[in-house]
Amino acid sequence: MNVLTVDHLAKSYGVAQAVSNVSFTIGEGEIFALVGPNGAGKSTTLRMIATILRPTAGTIAVAGHDVQKEAAKVRELITYLPEESGAYKALSGREYLHFMAGLYTNDSTKRREYVQRAEEIANLGDKITAKVSTYSKGMTRKLLLARAMMTSPKLAILDEPTSGLDVLNSLDIRHIIHDLTKQGTAVLLSSHNMLEIEYLSDRIGLIVGGKIKETGRPQDIKARHDAKNLEEVFLKVASA
Ligand SMILES: Nc1ncnc2c1ncn2[C@@H]1O[C@H](COP(=O)(O)OP(=O)(O)OP(=O)(O)O)[C@@H](O)[C@H]1O
Ligand SMILES: [Mg+2]
Repeated sequence: MNVLTVDHLAKSYGVAQAVSNVSFTIGEGEIFALVGPNGAGKSTTLRMIATILRPTAGTIAVAGHDVQKEAAKVRELITYLPEESGAYKALSGREYLHFMAGLYTNDSTKRREYVQRAEEIANLGDKITAKVSTYSKGMTRKLLLARAMMTSPKLAILDEPTSGLDVLNSLDIRHIIHDLTKQGTAVLLSSHNMLEIEYLSDRIGLIVGGKIKETGRPQDIKARHDAKNLEEVFLKVASA
């Protein structure tokens, strides 16, 4: 069974159609990236899948559970890292993880397990006991990603996980994401960095103006368009 099935999904804000007729699937342990320019409808799509926004039309199922009819069940299976999210600055990294783990479980042993797992993922060394207010953007992002992954979700929804990060931090984040899929977590992420996404994703969906123009493995899409990289594909597709 697919971890995620998105079928003819649409969202309009008043008369403006932000997302139309979007369909794709993600299998277990797969990394799927929605790639497209600013305003393409990436965040809107992710937020509908994360049960935050109600679709205007279409259906979404997570491990066979309908996102609208079984929202509570779906929330147990997913994790969502919004664009531009932050952590509580007054807490240390460890305190933040401990607080967040408490939202998922009342069992103290399980809570410790979650925090330990998250600390391993974040890999911040001694800085885990420092206040979040002293963290760089890259460190904060690692902490947030670790928080999002500590419960070993079926599906992780990550809105631009590497935006604003330097090469080394982006690489760390990519490694974290990649390692997690080995334990079966499926990942849906968004990005406008076509080159980076080519390395990270098993499959991509190229989204422009709320519509998916292409889906497939990066190498297949490039071959289809006789292009050297996804940026070239994008320029062809966007101007078509
Ligand atoms: N709450 C809202 N009300 C009205 N229009 C909205 C709202 N949220 C998004 N939109 C519009 O929907 C379209 C898609 O926006 P969305 O945020 O999904 O794009 P995006 O692909 O995530 O862009 P970015 O790369 O800049 O994050 C845009 O035209 C945007 O202006
Ligand atoms: Mg966005």
